[in-house]
Amino acid sequence: MNRTRCDRTLAWPLLQASFESLGKNFDLREAFAADPQRFSRFSQDAPHVFADLSKNLIDADTEALLLELARQCGLEQQRDAMFAGELINRTEQRAVMHFLLRNPPLAKEGRAQAAIKNIANALPEVNAEVQAVLAAMLAYAERLRLDDGITDIVNIGIGGSDLGPQMAVLALSEFATTTKRFHFVSNIDGQELAGVLAQLKPQSTLFLVASKTFTTAETMTNAHSAKRWFEAQGGQDIARHFAALTSNVAAANDFGITTTFGFWDWVGGRYSLWSAIGLPIAIAIGASGFRTLLAGAHAMDEHFRTTPLAHNLPVRLGLFDVWYRNFHGFSSRSIAPYSSALRRLPAYLQQLEMESNGKRVDMDGQALPYATAPVLWGEPGTNGQHAYFQMLHQGTSVVPVEFVAVKKAASYPHDLPGHQGKLLANVLAQAQALMNGKPDAGGHQHFPGNRPSTFLLLEQLTPASLGALLALQEHRVFVSGAIWGINSFDQWGVELGKVLAKDIESRLASGDEAGLDGSTAGLLQRLR
Ligand code: F6P
Repeated sequence: MNRTRCDRTLAWPLLQASFESLGKNFDLREAFAADPQRFSRFSQDAPHVFADLSKNLIDADTEALLLELARQCGLEQQRDAMFAGELINRTEQRAVMHFLLRNPPLAKEGRAQAAIKNIANALPEVNAEVQAVLAAMLAYAERLRLDDGITDIVNIGIGGSDLGPQMAVLALSEFATTTKRFHFVSNIDGQELAGVLAQLKPQSTLFLVASKTFTTAETMTNAHSAKRWFEAQGGQDIARHFAALTSNVAAANDFGITTTFGFWDWVGGRYSLWSAIGLPIAIAIGASGFRTLLAGAHAMDEHFRTTPLAHNLPVRLGLFDVWYRNFHGFSSRSIAPYSSALRRLPAYLQQLEMESNGKRVDMDGQALPYATAPVLWGEPGTNGQHAYFQMLHQGTSVVPVEFVAVKKAASYPHDLPGHQGKLLANVLAQAQALMNGKPDAGGHQHFPGNRPSTFLLLEQLTPASLGALLALQEHRVFVSGAIWGINSFDQWGVELGKVLAKDIESRLASGDEAGLDGSTAGLLQRLR
């Protein structure tokens, strides 16, 4: 397979030269003045998502060169290798097949079967297993929705076993049952769990212990404390009040949980909301809502898999990310969802982007001479405007902003007049102000403008559009990772801290500071 590293392609120095001669002085205002068609030329429809890319520091020649870079890096072959189920997560010798979770059931839909050219056709037994777990989990979710005895669902998990479900349950609150309360406990800080437990009664609570590995310290600590609390309060029926969502069913059984929903090692933690980890979402929006979420993501999978690169939205976004990171040198991207329901989207995307592409070596373990993942950060609009947008408009660093707007307001839980128009006016105004600036003003009043942004627009925030938006983000991260020649699907960087924390925990008890550096030893004594 062609996996040429970006800096070893012919396109790379051409992009460098193009940046030096034109790119670094590119002016958005001049580009719009020179090309009245710029908006339509640089915007596009993808499944459930309209993207205006025209306010990016890019022209047609640069984009053509970036597309050439993608071809020379073997992006299409790398993408096809993922969809063919090859072991592209080479440091863990695993396939990367979260897209399989989003396939429509093969047997029932001849039409869908014909359309699906990914590994599902070649692996009918895997696909059958996926569909069987999905059916079982959705049946369980439906039963729970009708079970008035359970009023509180507590998801205990962290990272991918928390951020995705939490973000999606919030995002889809318009479609969620109102008969259950959802709680998400992730932090090992006991204050979080204690605060939730104080609101609960054991007989009306369901704990979902969500952990791919079923070994993560935070989750295990919280799960043990929850079980102790449950039993101390007289709770008895663990099978009814605890379920495990995990690829390590044996460990869940050892813990004493018999109600389990499994998934597979080819589903990465940060790509797992489509699996059993999505159970809180399924309980919230029901089986058909969850299937619609999967269908929206599948539509984006098919867009990514089949659309020529030049009109392939994840490809274009991923290439712009490379252009900004490696040529302009922009070190972060701000995500600004103009939707309160999407307020956890930035946190979710942080893990997706930075755990996937925060890597310093290539696939072969060689140190990289260029930058990889940007810092991703953000808050929902309009809140961010009154916090850090000052810096976006007038600070010394340029930060590309990714706006996410939703045209139609949710009809539930609010039907307050006037808000949606103001919200949409603000998102448009911010994108406009970043680009146009206020050049005629001087000193403190001066806005330099020419600050890039992408505008992603959903008609409405629905299970389908959310699924498509998230799959879009997954695939754009794949694209930049493939160009950078890194493994986007491992996360060795989180391991060291876990090991050290275990060691320090026992030292905190014993006071043993032998072999510790001076600072850690000093702090250890202060913390005892
Ligand atoms: O420590 C990072 C991480 O491994 C993430 O990749 C993962 O999403 C999270 O921990 C939780 O892991 P698990 O689902 O196995 O508890």
